[in-house]
Amino acid sequence: MEEFTVTPWEVKGRVDYEKLIKIFGTEAITRDLLERLERLAGGELHVLLRRGVFFSHRDFDKILDDLEKGKGFFLYTGRGPSGPMHIGHLIPFILTKWFQDRFRANVYIMITDDEKFLDEEKMSLEEARHWAFENTLDIIAVGFDPDRTFIFHDTEYIGKMYPLAIKIAKKINYNLVRAVFGFTGSTNIGLLFYPALQIVPTFFEKKRCLIPAAIDQDPYWRIQRDLAESFGYYKVAAIHSKFLPPLTGFEGKMSSSKPETAIFLTDDPKTVRTKIMKYAFSGGQPTIELHRKLGGNPDIDISFQWLKMLFEPDDRRLKEIEDSYRSGAMLTGELKEYLIDKINRFLEEHRERREKAREMIHVYMREGKLARAMWERDLLDTNTDP
Ligand code: TYM
Repeated sequence: MEEFTVTPWEVKGRVDYEKLIKIFGTEAITRDLLERLERLAGGELHVLLRRGVFFSHRDFDKILDDLEKGKGFFLYTGRGPSGPMHIGHLIPFILTKWFQDRFRANVYIMITDDEKFLDEEKMSLEEARHWAFENTLDIIAVGFDPDRTFIFHDTEYIGKMYPLAIKIAKKINYNLVRAVFGFTGSTNIGLLFYPALQIVPTFFEKKRCLIPAAIDQDPYWRIQRDLAESFGYYKVAAIHSKFLPPLTGFEGKMSSSKPETAIFLTDDPKTVRTKIMKYAFSGGQPTIELHRKLGGNPDIDISFQWLKMLFEPDDRRLKEIEDSYRSGAMLTGELKEYLIDKINRFLEEHRERREKAREMIHVYMREGKLARAMWERDLLDTNTDP
């Protein structure tokens, strides 16, 4: 038995990412791949790539081969609207935007109100649709190109996707989803069907599809890769991120039902401060005297890890903080203050962009160039790729 579990619905224990690459049968993102990407992107790599937050992939080398030959790709990612989004949920969207900016690629964003209604016993469909709307504002705030991005809520766009979904569903039997997702005899039949739907957008264009997401979503792509070629499409390519660890330490994942584990995008500055001061797991020593003498351990310190993964993109500054914390010159309280300031600045800007997003929602979902094309198109007719 492994001492950790990763599925699309659950993360337990402390994840050993190297082991996970072996268990899932994916590949590590190597220096060589990153150097090729850097050349193609014509500039510095995003911090999420540079610092190894995205650590694993499937066929990402083929995306790079295509780019080198002048062929394009499209991007697909998504969100299950189970409640307010936390900072970890933004990670795949931030990198998706980076790819869109660098390569002018189309982006498809699926908001699975159906999945969350089916999956969460206490969630009504009205609530799931409410969170779909709220989460869409957070996603728009990331800053996607309005003419190259289509955001859709499953319960609205289902009519277009249904013919493709049943074609896919016909090739997936119960034994397969039971083995891949751990479904049992008491799983409702809506959830048994759902994986077919999450696969549909990988067939939105005849080009290769790249999915940035955390590693928990990989089981869907395994199924897609077994089916895609029989439909005349490419196997999906994926790049997988690690989880932004919960504030409370490396065990498990951030959870809406345990607010002390996460910073939500809607948390006000005071809440951010209280949560970090109170809950962020510290690699410091129990007393200031000991800390000055022995120094802190940034490798297990969640505040430092959050700076490293996302909030301090300046490599030199990060190194100074690391050295200073390790030597004992910087105290845990000071490190936490630094992170609080970074997060609050980030969230303040996010909130401003989120307010502006209200006026843009119809553009991303209906009126933008790509959105309009996707509503007008028959998805079975691949000659009309946008
Ligand atoms: P959901 O809502 O569980 O998660 C949304 C995205 O966030 C990633 N994620 C994280 N990334 C970094 N740190 C974390 N702590 C963290 N927690 C979650 C997830 O991997 C995901 O990328 N079924 C999906 C919705 C979906 C989707 C997709 C996701 C539909 N199509 C295509 C990715 C790609 C879901 O419920 O995601």
